[in-house]
Amino acid sequence: MASTTSLSLLFTLMLVSLCIVLCAAGNFNQDFQITWGDGRAKILNNNNLLTLSLDKASGSGFQSKNEYLYGKIDMQLKLVPGNSAGTVTAYYLSSKGSNWDEIDFEFLGNLSGDPYILHTNVFSQGKGNREQQFYLWFDPTSDFHTYSILWNPQHIVFSVDGTPIREFKNLELIGVPFPKNQAMRIYSSLWNADNWATRGGLIKTDWSKAPFTASYRNFNANACVWSNGKSSCKSNSPNSTSSTWLRQELDTSGQQRLRWVQKNYMIYNYCVDKKRFPQGLPLECTRF
Ligand SMILES: *[C@@H]1O[C@H](CO)[C@@H](O)[C@H](O)[C@H]1NC(C)=O
Ligand SMILES: *[C@@H]1O[C@H](CO)[C@@H](O)[C@H](O)[C@H]1NC(C)=O
Repeated sequence: MASTTSLSLLFTLMLVSLCIVLCAAGNFNQDFQITWGDGRAKILNNNNLLTLSLDKASGSGFQSKNEYLYGKIDMQLKLVPGNSAGTVTAYYLSSKGSNWDEIDFEFLGNLSGDPYILHTNVFSQGKGNREQQFYLWFDPTSDFHTYSILWNPQHIVFSVDGTPIREFKNLELIGVPFPKNQAMRIYSSLWNADNWATRGGLIKTDWSKAPFTASYRNFNANACVWSNGKSSCKSNSPNSTSSTWLRQELDTSGQQRLRWVQKNYMIYNYCVDKKRFPQGLPLECTRF
């Protein structure tokens, strides 16, 4: 009896130490640092879970330790449940300086049962104004879902659970600047934006429901890490040598799914907003 107990204890210890080795791959402490929020952002569950929270006094945020120049970056998010009106969970890549590049996901909260808006934007050399907004085909607060950014020399693709929702092509040939020589960090924050976020600012944050919490897990970056003026591209996938993401295009099925999302779930597209651009639509909108 005693030996069975000690054997199973030994086995448990072996599993635990194996987890310390394996579970450490892609852990939050290694890849991210909490940047603000005075204790409102937390890394939990053996570094496998990160939570941001927001109350009346403050929101919170984190950023990646690495800077990236191209990559396929996946994160699972579970958004603020219940009445999240007025809250914004921002998850984006950004470089620095006045000519910065940026690739944005922003999740605009809502009253219980009313749909979140997934807001996206792309800045190149300091110029944005490229908003596209979507409803989601699931409740993003009831479980974790994967939000991905593929950024390579050909295009930027935003995906949700592997379904592409937006493509920003490299159209430098027709004079549209494309993010390609400024490294970007990953940033995320949960903050109050009830002056515009929900129904254009009509619905305010209900602070009696605070604190509001968003959760993150399963970060994975197949990416080129920028450090000391050099880029080193690594991949965690079995196909590491080929870095397929660096050349990845949308295949036929990806294009079909992109069209399905844009037809059924897109609620705002700057590319068709002629009132906003009386001088003519942005150049990239003339080519699809
Ligand atoms: C919130 O719900 C309203 C009513 O369904 C909807 O018009 C709006 O787009 C939703 N999302 C946000 C962020 O306002
Ligand atoms: C590597 O990539 C090729 C081509 O995309 C694919 O057929 C193969 O299954 C991949 N191998 C592994 C181990 O994922």
